[in-house]
Amino acid sequence: FPGVAHFHTIRVNQPAGKFYTTKYLEDICKLWEFRGSGMTNMHGATGDIILLGTTTPQLEEVFYELTHNMNQDLGGSGSNLRTPADCVGQARCEYACYDTQAICHELTNEYQDELHRPAFPYKFKFKFDGCPNCCVASIARSDMSFIGTWRDEIRIDQDAVKAYAGGEIKSNGGAHAGRDWGAFDIQKEVVDLCPTNCTRYEDGKLEINNKECTRCMHCINVMPRALRIGNDRGCSILVGAKA
Ligand code: HEM
Ligand code: SF4
Ligand code: SF4
Repeated sequence: FPGVAHFHTIRVNQPAGKFYTTKYLEDICKLWEFRGSGMTNMHGATGDIILLGTTTPQLEEVFYELTHNMNQDLGGSGSNLRTPADCVGQARCEYACYDTQAICHELTNEYQDELHRPAFPYKFKFKFDGCPNCCVASIARSDMSFIGTWRDEIRIDQDAVKAYAGGEIKSNGGAHAGRDWGAFDIQKEVVDLCPTNCTRYEDGKLEINNKECTRCMHCINVMPRALRIGNDRGCSILVGAKA
């Protein structure tokens, strides 16, 4: 790959939730084939569209093409705000406790200066997870994590709990179906694994002491048709350097 000899890697700001039109993908591939190595990394660890390898004279050309003709901004790099990233959120996921795409888009626009003109002593990242499943791993991958949560109670459908316990509905959405793990054991796989020990299964009924629940999502992930996130939803923000 002679195109990567100069080792210039370009970060392009991915859209919130990573939704693209085929036209956009065609345009960016054509641009990169023409002005770069033709190699991409969709997507980088931070979430950007990474265009791998071009020569120095092409840098301004690519920048001009992206910003003037494709309505497309660069991502963050160096000691600045890095490209914000979010989970797919309310576009596709019933667990999203707030609109991750909206806030990701909003804050990307709000902090344009911080994204493009390095003025910090070190890089800074924020990421948006719609719920504690943390599909963009905001805790591990950012300095300021936004994680959706709820204040009221986990909604329980006791009939569906019974159906899970009786094996009529497959646990974990059938994700473990490839191998025989034996019959589903609600005590062992849900109650005993609750990190705050706040659930109880007795006489065919599941009870949750919601005051002690840390909203870890475990029980909900195992029995999604029986347990649902609460209705009083919002977002918790964790501030602390990690990435
Ligand atoms: C010359 C030095 C470095 C280069 C060329 C480099 C390059 C990169 C690239 C290309 C990415 C993916 C970016 C994206 O998707 O937008 C990345 C991500 C990352 N880098 Fe570096 N990096 C460097 C130094 C460092 C240092 C010193 C640290 C930590 C002390 C670090 C920690 C990380 C982490 C944690 C991520 C993933 C962030 C995420 O998942 O959001 N990097 N780096
Ligand atoms: S983090 Fe939660 S809300 Fe976001 S996609 Fe993952 S499961 Fe859905
Ligand atoms: S969400 Fe986690 S902490 Fe809360 S009841 Fe379920 S398993 Fe326990």
